[in-house]
Order: sequence, then structure tokens, then C-alpha cells
Amino acid sequence: MKQKNIILCGFMGCGKSTVGALLAKKNGMSFIDLDSYIEKKQNKTVSEIFEESGEEHFRMLEREAARELSEKRGIIIAAGGGTLTFKENVDILHKNGIIILLDVPVEKIAARLKNDTTRPLLNREDKESAMRELYSKRLPLYRDAADIIINANQSPMSICMDIMSQI
Ligand code: S3P
Repeated sequence: MKQKNIILCGFMGCGKSTVGALLAKKNGMSFIDLDSYIEKKQNKTVSEIFEESGEEHFRMLEREAARELSEKRGIIIAAGGGTLTFKENVDILHKNGIIILLDVPVEKIAARLKNDTTRPLLNREDKESAMRELYSKRLPLYRDAADIIINANQSPMSICMDIMSQI
């Protein structure tokens, strides 16, 4: 049987990339960050794509990237924070993957993202309230998409151990 991919899902700043890289290293697997994959392909940062072409265009590139990565086998993928809020992406990535939600309380996310400037959706005056609103809108979508929910309010190493004990 061909090996399933592991897809890490969750809000911006929940640790998908850090945990993904660590999990891959511990298990001798390849790791691909979906945003970095798009950035490499486009030779632009996510912020530049949003700024020059808008969110809808980014979502199209994201869907295309999800489709391409879903063709791979046995890799770890860190999705973007918005990727798995779209049913189409969930279906694409689910076909050959296990979706794992890294669940982090909104207070922790708020603290982590406070001084961040790399997330175009949060580059606004009312950053914290916009973030909280988006978080509560998305949480049920993440929960619906996920096969496994991990308490990610702990160290990356502990999160990895929890994931490994559940898959
Ligand atoms: C987004 C999250 C970002 C990136 C883009 C949009 C979102 O990824 O894909 O800025 O809609 O939540 P991270 O979750 O890796 O920050």
C-alpha cells in the first residue's frame, strides 16, 4: 500500500511549519510547506502575491499547489492557515492524506502574531479583533476537516510525540 501524506492544519501561527519540519526529521520523511512551495514556484512572497494579484489569485495558486502536492506519497505537508477552510482543498488533500489539526488557544495565537507582518490578512489596524473573528469562523471548519486533533499548546517536540502516538 502506498504511504499516506500527513497534512498539518490550523490557524496562522499554530506551529504547522515548525512541527512539520521536526516531525519529518524524526521520521526520515520529506517536508513541504505549502506557502513556501507557492513562493518558490511564483518567485514571490505570499505578501507580494496578495499585494500584486489579490487574495482570490492566491487561493487559486493554493488550490493548484494542494493538487500537485496531493500527488506525492508519504510526505509531510504544512498547509496554509486558509487552505483547509475550502472544501475542495480538503477533498483534494484527503484523498491521499491524514489531516491533523494543531489546536492552539486564540490567546496564544494573538501573542505570537502580535508583531508579525508577514500575514497579509492581518496587516490592518484592528489586527487582533480581525484575527479573533477569523479564528472563531475557521475553527469549526478545521475541526470538520481534521482526522485527528492535537493539543498544540505545548512544545514542538511534545506535539510531535503526540502525533506519532496517534498515527
Ligand atoms: C493564510 C495563512 C498563511 C498564508 C496566507 C493566508 C490564511 O499561512 O497561506 O497568508 O488565510 O490563514 P500560515 O498559516 O502558514 O501563516
